[in-house]
Amino acid sequence: MNKRVLITGGAGYIGSHTAVELLGAGYDVVIADNLSNSDISSIEGIRSITGRDVDFVEVDCCDREAFARVFERYEFDSAIHFAASKAVGESVSEPLKYYRNNLLSLINLVDLMREYGRRNIVFSSSATVYGEAEQLPVTELTPRKSATSPYGNTKQICEDILRDSVAAYGTLNGISLRYFNPMGAHPSALIGELPRGVPNNLVPFITQTAAGVRECLSIFGDDYPTPDGSCIRDYIDIVDLARAHVAAIERMTGGRSKSSYEIFNIGTGRGVSVKELVEAFERVNGVKVNRRTAPKRAGDIAAIWADTTLAGEELGWKAERSIEQTLDAAWRWEKRIRGLK
Ligand code: UD1
Repeated sequence: MNKRVLITGGAGYIGSHTAVELLGAGYDVVIADNLSNSDISSIEGIRSITGRDVDFVEVDCCDREAFARVFERYEFDSAIHFAASKAVGESVSEPLKYYRNNLLSLINLVDLMREYGRRNIVFSSSATVYGEAEQLPVTELTPRKSATSPYGNTKQICEDILRDSVAAYGTLNGISLRYFNPMGAHPSALIGELPRGVPNNLVPFITQTAAGVRECLSIFGDDYPTPDGSCIRDYIDIVDLARAHVAAIERMTGGRSKSSYEIFNIGTGRGVSVKELVEAFERVNGVKVNRRTAPKRAGDIAAIWADTTLAGEELGWKAERSIEQTLDAAWRWEKRIRGLK
């Protein structure tokens, strides 16, 4: 069996950690990334952690001809598709960027997989597809809600493109992994999250505030209907999340002959509030995070966390790293990139 996996967007945050876990599990990887929101240094990080070589191709998956050359050059049975734009706010002001980039890159991938006789596709989806769910935790059968941003809409449409393509062509397997809130960094602190500009997401904002790069963390909203009034999310360690991709690849390459499409929630199954997370960060790392209460952020939901039973039963995967381990790694990574002791 061919043990090479194509990782689109593999220089990015989730992609680079997934490359490390795949290499550690004995796979070869080829990374295709246009470096539009990632840094080539992550490829060096992957090599240092694993001691393995990684093929890297700088290519835009929206450029079908250029992308096809990756298929000409490399044999692989499976692809994991991370390459996409991911800033919710920007997607509202620049919807066409999101529809073009996120839809076209997946369409090209599915099309080329068919053309070159490659079978397995893992798609990087998001818990955003559930919107504000009526019942918590959400299972994979919880109905999706109309998306509240173009970004969220592209995740729904991409899931549907994959589902319909698997059903129609009979030669593909598809798995959509619905990530909850990824956080942390590799324990080596050689790879981690590298947000450009002001971070949108909570954990990089916390670590940058602790490092003195930002003055003060705004906690968006303190009168949500939750025990402490701040929002609740399911924060999943980046290494655990990366390992879920290895489990998905193993399932698809494990001899299932008939073409199938499946969806799995990838979270911890536990809800943690914003305030609890900030307090845990301070406690674990012995640092202060300046913070204030700020108005609610448009589009935020009060609470969501995952039911991860299906991933446990079918993928044999569950989150293993503790919140302390994750927040320790997040802080060591931030200190390393800032040159702090
Ligand atoms: C967001 C996106 C989601 C996307 C995910 C990718 C929205 C509405 N959702 O999820 O579609 O898949 O990122 O990572 O943007 N918070 C603060 N202060 C901050 C930043 C965040 O209090 O400076 C709070 C937010 O209100 C939220 C929680 O922290 O309650 C997590 O926020 P964030 O990291 O942005 O993730 P989500 O909004 O859950």
